[in-house]
Amino acid sequence: MNVSGRPTRTIWPSADGTAVEIIDQTRLPHAFATARLATLDDAAHAIRAMLVRGAPLIGATAAWGLWLALRADASDAALDRACATLLATRPTAVNLRWALDRVRAHVSPLASAARAAAARRLAGAICDEDVALNRGIAAAGLPLLRAIAAKKQPGERVNVLTHCNAGWLATVDLGTATAPIYTAHDAGIPIHVWVDETRPRNQGASLTAWELLNHGVPHTVIVDNAGGHLMQRGLVDLVIVGTDRTTATGDVCNKIGTYLKALAARDNGVLFYAAVPSPSIDWTLRDGLREIPIEERAAREVTHLTGRLPDGTVAAVALTPEGSPAANPAFDVTPARLVTGLITERGVAEASAAGLRRLFPLV
Ligand code: MRU
Repeated sequence: MNVSGRPTRTIWPSADGTAVEIIDQTRLPHAFATARLATLDDAAHAIRAMLVRGAPLIGATAAWGLWLALRADASDAALDRACATLLATRPTAVNLRWALDRVRAHVSPLASAARAAAARRLAGAICDEDVALNRGIAAAGLPLLRAIAAKKQPGERVNVLTHCNAGWLATVDLGTATAPIYTAHDAGIPIHVWVDETRPRNQGASLTAWELLNHGVPHTVIVDNAGGHLMQRGLVDLVIVGTDRTTATGDVCNKIGTYLKALAARDNGVLFYAAVPSPSIDWTLRDGLREIPIEERAAREVTHLTGRLPDGTVAAVALTPEGSPAANPAFDVTPARLVTGLITERGVAEASAAGLRRLFPLV
């Protein structure tokens, strides 16, 4: 997508070929800054501290991280250590494991001297593929938005609600949940997006809002608790969320609070879709509630809030009484029965084992 008129991805090899550059998402929306990853530890830190985040981008960063590791030491032992280090950064998004397995399988049979270059090429290919997958999701999701628009009065807007950031910042480019939204907007369909702020880290308020503003998509930021009320008033036509891990049976794990949106959508007859690129499907799992590891993040993300002060400095402020404990589960699981459909790069699948198998028979 464009930033200040320049086509920009979230991750790219540095011009001098010695490192990887990323958008530092901890600085948005108040500053657009990039960061340089030159070592395995830089890559692991960027994922852990959420300079990069979002399942597809976590996977892409891990792939680049293996290149950085193999450049320093291409032995089998170093490869094993690098995979273990990166895998331990964040537990929920399956794209991380998918990317590591893919690079490891590709470089393991090669002589040590050839491994780093091969990892570099594959990391670049994974990034390009991510963009292609998101284009597929855009093509699959656009007819859903067109169909809703066709039932409206001319000029009446299609209201989409989204949670967290499953936009281009969460991927290499274009986004998953936002791919149909950007495509519909660019095609002249009047779209308006309700943006859940998404406590505690506020990826909706800070990142999705920044993206949509940047691209000129009409949107309104709402508190996480407003979605159900808006649905009751008929102000939401459909919900589109992303996913960190979707089981082979169609259970959707995504940012904490997604499940409550799905419940409210079901109670109000509102369509509820997840945008699911195939690397986010965990074909080994059948029961999302029992089997998906849910990341527990620091209590400080709940007890404190970061924002810009009137003098322009960015600071953290305390919200809770000192001494009140806080819990911070970062993801939840929406059972397949509450999901209208899974928007994949191959089309919209019913959220079930049979629905996914119809589109992905050979995986
Ligand atoms: O904790 P985050 O910011 O990495 O969580 C991101 C999400 O939950 C996204 O919805 C998900 O990763 C899909 S991104 C296309």
